[in-house]
Amino acid sequence: MAARVVTLASAFVHSSSSASSSSSSSSLFRQRLSFRITLTVKPFLGSSSRGKLMAHTIAKATLGLTLPSIIEPPKISFAAKDVDVVEWKGDILAVGVTEKDMAKDENSKFPNPILKKLDAHLSGLLAEASSEEDFTGKAGQSVVLRLPGLGSKRIGLIGLGKTASTASAFQGLGEAVAAAAKTANASDVAVVLADSTGLSAELKLATASAIASGTVLGIHEDTRYKSESKKLALKSVDILGLGAGPELDKKLKYAEEVSSGIIFGRELVNSPANVLTPAVLAEEASKIASAYSDVLSATILTAKQCEELKMGSYLGVAAASANPPHFIHLCYKPLNGPAKVKLALVGKGLTFDSGGYNIKTGPGCSIELMKFDMGGSAAVLGAAKAIGQVKPPGVEVHFIIAACENMISGTGMRPGDIVTASNGKTIEVNNTDAEGRLTLADALVYACNQGVEKIVDLATLTGACVVALGPSVAGVFTPSDDLAKEVFDAAEISGEKLWRMPLEESYWDSMKSGVADMVNTGGRPGGAITAALFLKQFVDEKVQWMHIDIAGPVWNDKKKSATGFGIATLVEWVLTNSS
Ligand code: BES
Ligand code: MN
Ligand code: ZN
Repeated sequence: MAARVVTLASAFVHSSSSASSSSSSSSLFRQRLSFRITLTVKPFLGSSSRGKLMAHTIAKATLGLTLPSIIEPPKISFAAKDVDVVEWKGDILAVGVTEKDMAKDENSKFPNPILKKLDAHLSGLLAEASSEEDFTGKAGQSVVLRLPGLGSKRIGLIGLGKTASTASAFQGLGEAVAAAAKTANASDVAVVLADSTGLSAELKLATASAIASGTVLGIHEDTRYKSESKKLALKSVDILGLGAGPELDKKLKYAEEVSSGIIFGRELVNSPANVLTPAVLAEEASKIASAYSDVLSATILTAKQCEELKMGSYLGVAAASANPPHFIHLCYKPLNGPAKVKLALVGKGLTFDSGGYNIKTGPGCSIELMKFDMGGSAAVLGAAKAIGQVKPPGVEVHFIIAACENMISGTGMRPGDIVTASNGKTIEVNNTDAEGRLTLADALVYACNQGVEKIVDLATLTGACVVALGPSVAGVFTPSDDLAKEVFDAAEISGEKLWRMPLEESYWDSMKSGVADMVNTGGRPGGAITAALFLKQFVDEKVQWMHIDIAGPVWNDKKKSATGFGIATLVEWVLTNSS
């Protein structure tokens, strides 16, 4: 099926080679003259846009003249091999060790067979050096030693803690391998567990895949907005001791496909709001559909079309912005045969949230980070990119985003205004900063109208959820225990942290309005719960629905970067629904 693009972002100016982004002075001059300039054709989000996407290039005037540079994504090849650790040739042989593996016997020797063998080839230097470095195998510890005597130039010991069994522990191992590879400028590395004897065949697959995704994601640095960046040296990662063969290769391919979706999602979130407008988000979605046009199609609705669908709640939020809203709908249909189940993934897509008239002020309001308020939509589009590659059979998936920007202007929504959503319900907007739920209301009604059986929405919805669960755990709200089980099982595999919260119906009292069907905010207490109860008003009762508040985990404060949270879990969940 060809990508069907009903309406393309109207804000795009068509390409011309006459002006160049590198000659910024002439571009500036042009801007003064005509106010709308034409910059050199570039695929928008560099590293994710390549190959035939080049045909889809856009040209546009970006506020501040900022355009991301095109960076080829690191091409790292992964292979599972059955090579002896002492014979493997390359730059770093990384060994994942637990504290137990590091224990030494009465002669200060390793009883662990792999460490013992390595130590023997290194004339006891491994045991000696690890003691000197105080390396005990604690999680987060790592040492890289340059020792002669092995096929590998260096040997790395990477601590896994007391025991290691979860996906996130092995992703952590992959991330540590990536860090070591960066420091050493390594191009070929191998990873092995000191002890993999207790792992079932299935766990070996999962472990290899977690190591692989941890490594790709760890190596990825978003340098599109830096004027200089270092070229990554890493070319190949061999995974030793976890078996080899087609099943493992398939699993590693899957890990790469999901990781490419995660990197794409991170790039969307990292992009600033002057670059990633609702129109550009819609264009990026259309590009994903074109790249996997055998299974994906795109429909982008303009403000006028949304008005025809009576999406007053969504359009109310969009009203103050000079950047028009774009309603994004991608549809995945399997290659062969009909789908047995229809799903929808809905994402909050606020390319910027100023708060509106209830403007975000004061310390800790994080207004300067509110480009990440489209993290839900990035998760949905990252999942679409992965699913476009994985092509699961027997399942249809709708990807839905009501993208817009929450700004302030004379045309904008006032506190106290009443808006009417597309299911006819009226909302008194007592706080313009509770805008995400207003956009999701119409997106959820639209999702239900697609005839789906299950909906999962993701949103950076409330600061209250961050207060409750902190920066690393997402809040899950659903009336359905069955859906909860499906998604929690998926998150167990992906290694993402979710926590179920109550949909306490009695709290709905605080959402009553004197003049409309409801207000959009209750008080501060239980703010994440009342937000979820608000969303529930817009979901058909016969549809299984889950809301995931990702306000905390969308962003990594330490790394000052997006996480891509949710994508791995969404893809796993779609797979469990496939047949
Ligand atoms: N996008 C914010 C939620 C948010 C806040 C995410 C901080 C990440 C960090 C959302 O639109 C919002 O402003 N929510 C308000 C709701 C309130 C007005 C009821 C909030 O959480 O303060
Ligand atoms: Mn807000
Ligand atoms: Zn918001």
